[in-house]
Amino acid sequence: MERIGVIGGGLMGSGIAEVCARAGSNVTVHEINAEAAEAALGRIQKSLARAVEREKLDEAGRDDILSRIDISTDISEQSDRQLVIEAATENEGLKKEIFSELDRIVGDEAILASNTSSIPITRLAAVTERPGKVVGLHFFNPVPVMALVELVTTVLTDDAAATAVASYAESLGKTVIRAKDRAGFIVNMLLIPYMIGAVRMYEAGFASAEDIDTGMKLGANHPMGPLELADFVGLDTTKFVADVLFEEFKDPAYASPPLLTRMVEAGLHGRKTGRGFYDYK
Ligand code: 3HC
Repeated sequence: MERIGVIGGGLMGSGIAEVCARAGSNVTVHEINAEAAEAALGRIQKSLARAVEREKLDEAGRDDILSRIDISTDISEQSDRQLVIEAATENEGLKKEIFSELDRIVGDEAILASNTSSIPITRLAAVTERPGKVVGLHFFNPVPVMALVELVTTVLTDDAAATAVASYAESLGKTVIRAKDRAGFIVNMLLIPYMIGAVRMYEAGFASAEDIDTGMKLGANHPMGPLELADFVGLDTTKFVADVLFEEFKDPAYASPPLLTRMVEAGLHGRKTGRGFYDYK
């Protein structure tokens, strides 16, 4: 796979584009307008600048990676891509539109993947004429750092397509784990109840946010505590994935605690809005 498409250059999409280009692929990122395209390029440049600063990459290497990334607002530029990884907003209607359009644009052999953490891949496959060539490819934030990718297959996925995507993800330096198409896949099904369990503990006044986080950092060797991690992932995203898990399994372990719901309603979405369980301003 030499020609990769990425739909959406946000936090996840820009990270995916970067790791694909670092591995030698030619990447075309699709963004909705010039402003978003500029922001996507800025994210990639910032991440590469950080690698240069830390002497993990030299300037020639950075330029070489950037020369393989093209950001476009014209979706038809995805037409020659062998694999397109969709990383748009978590909105089912929008993703269905994107899959349906990509299906018409790309060649018959192309594989379509979604980085969704919550929308069933089967529903996206069903809007295309190539359901055997549609998979979930779930990266973790920050994409250049996190070593894992979840490969999600549906009852309709062809083995050959799944194997091709798994080999490509391994060529990016990622470890691939496979999951069936059900809410939460593997990681979020375990991670979300852990994070919302910490919110419940904090809400009950049982311990301070700092002590809950320190407990898990020093007591279980996690790089971040659960509340710090919820702020990092985004409280809106945490609640969104919890809601999807609750809808699928109707298990109270996945029910969003009132405090999490209220914080999201109040616009306290964690790091990206400057405030969540901690203040980042
Ligand atoms: N982009 C690129 N590189 C980054 C980066 C970023 N955004 N953030 C950190 N890095 C790199 C640094 O350059 C550094 O690299 P080096 O060791 O080669 O020099 C390395 O990562 C460590 O960074 P720092 O020293 O700045 O900071 P930390 O040691 O505190 O690590 C962290 C930061 C990697 C974010 C670490 O705290 C961590 O692993 N946190 C947990 C992240 C996690 O669990 N993510 C999964 C979230 S769940 C998810 O994404 C699924 C979704 O569906 C909800």
